[in-house]
Amino acid sequence: MLKQPFNEWMEQIQQLMEQTLAQQLPNTAALPQRLHQAMHYATLGGGKRVRPLLVFAAGELVQARPANLAHLAAALEMVHVYSLVHDDLPCMDNDALRRGKPTCHIAFDEATALLVGDALQTQAFQILATPLTDVTPQTQLRMVHTLAHATGHAGMAGGQAIDLASIGHRLSLPELEFMHLLKTGALIRAAVLIGAMAGQTLSQEASEQLDRFAKRIGLAFQVVDDVLDCESDSKTLGKTAGKDAANDKPTYVSLLGLAQAKNFARELRDDAFSALDGFGNSAQRLKELADYIVVRSF
Ligand code: IPE
Ligand code: IPE
Ligand code: MG
Ligand code: MG
Ligand code: MG
Repeated sequence: MLKQPFNEWMEQIQQLMEQTLAQQLPNTAALPQRLHQAMHYATLGGGKRVRPLLVFAAGELVQARPANLAHLAAALEMVHVYSLVHDDLPCMDNDALRRGKPTCHIAFDEATALLVGDALQTQAFQILATPLTDVTPQTQLRMVHTLAHATGHAGMAGGQAIDLASIGHRLSLPELEFMHLLKTGALIRAAVLIGAMAGQTLSQEASEQLDRFAKRIGLAFQVVDDVLDCESDSKTLGKTAGKDAANDKPTYVSLLGLAQAKNFARELRDDAFSALDGFGNSAQRLKELADYIVVRSF
């Protein structure tokens, strides 16, 4: 059966996520209104929704129910949005622009932005712990475990700590890779693994190959983020360009230079592709996403 073109598929899921997230978020008319409004502001109306797209693409490998995938994808996106809101705070990257509009702490205030992150993170886990049709409680517990591991000290939060501690330092390539795998790679990897837990059980061999894919594209995603920060402009990115150099952050661009950083992202994509060899047509969306992650312009 011929699949719909990638761009149409992507737009369809982006729209579905807008609706799903809007339904999941608390009512802006309910108390505390300011917190609820800020959660809507930060979550809706922007973003590429790459982690949800990965949940859906991985779900295709295991014939997962689309309604379950939308639910799980909303949890992943909430953790991601929380990470962006905190990443932009003055105590971290001190950014004023995100997804083409003022950052949450500028549009509201710092305390509200902190609470938006806290509330989105805990709501993500609440969603994962809400019973799903045809997914066992044991599997949902594994999903909670996977997301918690990816988000905490051994994942995103740990990576962000290394990022902040590295300002003004020159990291070695293995140190930089470790930081990127944690701060961005871990959540991307979790999106793939959680999507693939939502349907038929994969063999041990297939799970290992999928994990290799997920790690490679997770790293590639941040390498490309570094490249775009250096090469693109704020209007295209919807966030302040050139801030890694301005903040003296070690990145793939500062360590390898632009051309080599781009080559590295393509190598990671190729390796990610080869990890999917055994999956056949069911991996088409994952392959398309791997390509998108490397060739995207924002
Ligand atoms: C930006 O993530 C922050 C990183 C982890 C590199 P995205 O590029 O996915 O941001 P949105 O969600 O599309 O705004
Ligand atoms: C952000 O990395 C990683 C997380 C939010 C966890 P960056 O600081 O490079 O992300 P941008 O460039 O501000 O989106
Ligand atoms: Mg940062
Ligand atoms: Mg930042
Ligand atoms: Mg960046």
